[in-house]
Amino acid sequence: MPTASKPVIQCDPEIFSCNFNRLPHAVQHTLSDNPLFQLSALAKLAQQVAARENPHHPKGDIYVDQGKAISEKTDLCEWAKDDIANLINQIKSGQTWIILKHIEREPGYREVFENCICDILNLTGKKILADIKWFEAILFITSPNRVTDYHIDRECSWLLQIQGDKDMHLFDRADKDILPDEELENYWMVNNLSAVYKPQYESRAMVHHLRPGIGVHSPVNTPHWLQNGNNVSVSLNINFQFHEHAWENLFKVNYYLRRAGLKPSTPGTHPFMDNIKSKAYTVFQDVRRRINASPRVSEQNEARQHYHHIVETLASR
Ligand SMILES: [Fe+2]
Repeated sequence: MPTASKPVIQCDPEIFSCNFNRLPHAVQHTLSDNPLFQLSALAKLAQQVAARENPHHPKGDIYVDQGKAISEKTDLCEWAKDDIANLINQIKSGQTWIILKHIEREPGYREVFENCICDILNLTGKKILADIKWFEAILFITSPNRVTDYHIDRECSWLLQIQGDKDMHLFDRADKDILPDEELENYWMVNNLSAVYKPQYESRAMVHHLRPGIGVHSPVNTPHWLQNGNNVSVSLNINFQFHEHAWENLFKVNYYLRRAGLKPSTPGTHPFMDNIKSKAYTVFQDVRRRINASPRVSEQNEARQHYHHIVETLASR
């Protein structure tokens, strides 16, 4: 992993430590002039990602949404040879949203990603590694004026705007008018689309105008929606997922408690109780895994192996 002379991601340490994984805030980055993120290079990257023989996701590591008709190509490898590059070249005139997942698996992008992660871990402190399951870099290429609907994500992320501009509307996840606990419990237990947009609270949005060189940190489960400017947008999402015990188990326990007719406390209000709940749920999961003979997160998983590589190389930085 090359040593960066200047951080790729920069943020005022005080702003970072007050807000990290709590509230969204702006960061700066140096990726906008990097030729790896020009559209011609991204067309090649998309072909590589689509043609992966061992993708991270069972349906492949590329997702394409062309507006009204969602494209789900049955043979991504064949399609990748021509069509994905053409699609990227024509993206200016379409209504297209392309997602390339785990781009850190490709040469060049891996180094960019590792430098970003090192900058982030310099800000968080390396102690946080014990809570992290794996890291990922996702690339978004979007047609002019497209809207990304309101949702929440499971990752702790940094969205870095590289080309074009967009407005990102983010909400405080601790605001229970906006994101009631029941929606979070359903998100973790039932359905990824459980967060419901409430237009009456739009005035509470923290709107970040993203342009090349500017990014925003989004804590786990921060509600957000995005509006592209009148131009093609290229954004890089650097993220990691926490182990289940750090956050999601609390909502899973509360899901069951609420179904049993109880009124569980919001995670974070009683840290001692949270700790007991999370540990109890971890034991429950381990027992269930043993009964079903299903493994924990596999150490053979490529993202998990990359995690170990980052941990090792961080020690030498
Ligand atoms: Fe998102």
